[in-house]
Parts: sequence; structure tokens; C-alpha cells
Amino acid sequence: MDVVRRVHAMKEASARAHASGATIGLVPTMGALHAGHVALVRRARAQADVVVVSIFVNPTQFGPGEDFASYPRDLARDCDLLAAEGVDIVFAPQPDEIYPPGATTFVEVAGLSDVLEGKSRPGHFRGVATVVTKLFEIVKPQVAVFGQKDAQQAIIVRRMAADLLMDVEVLVLPTKRDDDGVALSSRNVYLSADERRAAKAIPRALEAGRVALASGEHDPGRILAAAREPIVAEPLLRIDYLELVDADRLQPVTRAQGEMLLVAAVFAGKTRLIDNLPLRS
Ligand code: PAJ
Repeated sequence: MDVVRRVHAMKEASARAHASGATIGLVPTMGALHAGHVALVRRARAQADVVVVSIFVNPTQFGPGEDFASYPRDLARDCDLLAAEGVDIVFAPQPDEIYPPGATTFVEVAGLSDVLEGKSRPGHFRGVATVVTKLFEIVKPQVAVFGQKDAQQAIIVRRMAADLLMDVEVLVLPTKRDDDGVALSSRNVYLSADERRAAKAIPRALEAGRVALASGEHDPGRILAAAREPIVAEPLLRIDYLELVDADRLQPVTRAQGEMLLVAAVFAGKTRLIDNLPLRS
């Protein structure tokens, strides 16, 4: 496995792969890898000849006061894990190469970026769309694999790839969870033992919403009330948002029908956790 630190070296490696007729699969990450990331890597491995995993804690997607500086970083451990998965190239660039001094060009996916996560974290998706565009431009993958855990991000990346006529297939894989239902996240390391226990209420809330819909409830207010219950019962949790939205435009539904997402952002102490459940009716 090669660890590539320079943009020009990554572009050369991709050009060589394409020249030999190989397909490239890219898994963009910020490192601190867990089994959720590994599932994406395995899918890329099954789908492409050359698998590239990028590890880059992208400064432009963090707001002021967010955890950019403290975000967990352990490149050596991540590389051991990826080598064992048969990854060909880890691309771990430096920030000043991805954002050359004076860079003023950003990619903005209007509308979809302003709701839910985008409303709570202004500028977040501008940073995500910009870095993913740059990674696609450098690595030139035929296929890129993302996780449903960040449902809004996946929808925005798909929209962006289609709008900008990018030659990349965007795959989205289901959320990997711990045995107790909590979605795997690099940020779970911030949780105290008590907060980690309380966090189990988040998947329980999503499940309560699913059960309400399955039992014939189509009033979003009532579905959300059922989902809210397990969370408000936990004093360590505080809801940032809990919404039932349509899966295309991410707008709140007035009646539960079609393809939807039940989405939650919840503070456990100071740590902000997100989770979601696709629903249909
Ligand atoms: P990161 O949070 O490291 O996540 C990298 C990829 O792993 C994303 O596509 C995310 O949705 C997926 N992922 C995270 N937790 C998962 C889980 N429990 N199950 C399945 N997939 C999971 O998302 C980012 O990095 C960044 O925004 C990035 C796209 C790399 C741009 O900087």
C-alpha cells in the first residue's frame, strides 16, 4: 500500500492506473477509521481495480468553535487498518496543497445545503462539496463510496456530481451500528460512559418513529412525538433537530408518504451526534 502525501503524486498514480485500463474506487474520509468506514472500503475493493482512501480533516467544513483542532487523528493506525483491507493507495494531503494560499473558489449546492445540518452548521456543506470536488479532480475515480450515516452529505454529493457532469458513480451504503444500535462515528470517542449509554436513545427514537409509521400513523407531528420520547427521557441528551423530511429535497413533509428520512441531530453533553433512518410509505 502506498501512502501518497502530494497532490501531483496522486494525480500521477491515477493517470498510471487509467492508462493501464484499471478502474479507480475512492472512499473519502477524515480518518479515525471505524467499521463504518471499513464497510465502504470493502465495497470499493469489490467494485474497482485500484482502491484509494483519502484521509483529510478538511478545515473548510468545520465552523468556528467546532472540533477541527481536536478531531481525532491517527494516520499510522488508519494505515495499518487499510493495508489489512487490501487498499492500494492512502491519499493524505496537507491542507495548504488542497487549499493553496489565496484560493477563493468554492462549490455550493444551493437549497439542499441550507437545511438540517446546513442550518445548524452554516458553511459546512460548502466545505464538503468543495473538498469532494477537489478529491474527485485529483483522484479521478469512476466510483466513490459514501455512507448513509451522513444522509444529507450523500444527497448533496450526488446532486453535485450530476449538476457538474462529473464522470463518477456515487454509491451510498447503509449505516453501520454498534450492537446497542448507536451509529458508529469518529466522534463517539468524545462521549463519557454515561453519555455513550444515553446515546442509545437516538436509534431507539428513530425506531419509535418507524414503528409509529408502520402502525398506520401518517401525521408527521405524531410520528415525531413518538420519536422524541426516548430522547427527552435522557437528561444527558438535548435535541438540536428531529425532523421527518422527503428524501429528495429534504423538506419537512406535511403527510408521511413516499420516500422519507427521519433525521436527528442530538447533543450528548458537548458532543453533537447525527443519525437518520430512511422510511417509506
Ligand atoms: P467521515 O466522517 O470520516 O466519513 C467518511 C465516510 O464514512 C462518509 O461517507 C460517511 O458517511 C461514512 N460513515 C461514517 N460513519 C458511518 C457509519 N456508521 N456507517 C456507514 N458509513 C459511515 O464524511 C466525511 O468524513 C467528510 O465529510 C468527507 C466526505 C470525507 C469530506 O471531508
